[in-house]
Amino acid sequence: MATVGKLLQARQEKVVDTGNKVTVVGVGQVGMATVFSLLTQGVTNNIVMVDTNEDKLKGEMMDLQHGSAFLFNANIKAGTDYSITADSQICVIAAGVRQLEGEDRRNLVQRNVEVLKGIVPKLLKYSPNAILLIASNPVDVLTYVTWKISGLPKHRVIGSGTNLDSARFRYLLSQKLNIAPTSCHAYIIGEHGDSSVPVWSSVNIAGVRLRDLNKNIGLDSDEENWKETHTQVVQSAYEVIKLKGYTSWAIGLSLTQLVKAILTNAASVHAVTTCVQGEHGITDNVFLSLPCVLGRNGVLDVIRQPLTDVEREQVFKSATLMAELQAKIKF
Ligand code: NAD
Ligand code: LAC
Repeated sequence: MATVGKLLQARQEKVVDTGNKVTVVGVGQVGMATVFSLLTQGVTNNIVMVDTNEDKLKGEMMDLQHGSAFLFNANIKAGTDYSITADSQICVIAAGVRQLEGEDRRNLVQRNVEVLKGIVPKLLKYSPNAILLIASNPVDVLTYVTWKISGLPKHRVIGSGTNLDSARFRYLLSQKLNIAPTSCHAYIIGEHGDSSVPVWSSVNIAGVRLRDLNKNIGLDSDEENWKETHTQVVQSAYEVIKLKGYTSWAIGLSLTQLVKAILTNAASVHAVTTCVQGEHGITDNVFLSLPCVLGRNGVLDVIRQPLTDVEREQVFKSATLMAELQAKIKF
């Protein structure tokens, strides 16, 4: 355009590859909470959204683009054709069906396996070097399924796992202790959701282990009934779904933290879904959450967390459940 030519004297080609391109598949409640948080926290300024619903995609894209003046040089694209996802560093998968009120996550498995079969090969066609980050439920089994479909090495397929359960746990602990959640150091491992395992033996504030103050903490024999805090974590999603129909903000923030850790090669530790074969006596090829070191190559290390016999048995039980569920999947 002549006006542009009069205004600008071109000196250089514009840089197109920002090195931080993130694709989010699924622009439902989880996908959009994630995109919003990624953009507003400045974790990436290069986002692509994909879905099967063209109108919703276009609407979400336009709405976000109209906010560009409040963002950091954002490049926001959306479409049903996966070619726009080319050269993404991370692909977040938040597509598929979610639970109805009272329904458990495991019940969604076969429907979301079909969804993943349509998504994963297309993502890898255009971004063969990407890290895949799965949020769709049941997230642990679907991380295994994504690994199978993708043929990628295990460290490049990660599930959001119990990073969210751990955050809920830390929030509830913070309310009981009057200490910020960021200073309540606590992990939930195992399955995201129903059979999750709170690692009471390592819950600590500034290195002070609560178990040293109350040797029965988290056990049935605990007179203070701290176990109830974990029950509340397990009930959290069911309660929120009953009240508002879905969960979104906390998982969006959780996924943003994980994307940031990977993009910035942070070597920070998060409870995420990874292959746990060989850990804690597990022999099945199953995927569950353990504390992992995350960086640009995905899962860099798994933390060898000492567990009590009770905790180890609970993780083992989660693994057996996962193996049973996996055996029923039709690929
Ligand atoms: P939603 O119904 O709001 O959105 C799902 C989106 O997926 C829709 O926009 C739909 O069009 C899209 N979709 C469906 N099939 C697709 C396909 N083949 N390709 C591309 N897009 C497709 O659901 P939601 O509330 O955003 O939940 C999404 C998933 O995330 C569910 O499985 C839910 O259980 C899960 N979830 C996981 C966590 C977690 O902690 N891991 C937390 C909340 C929700
Ligand atoms: C959660 C979803 C439903 O918020 O897995 O825990």
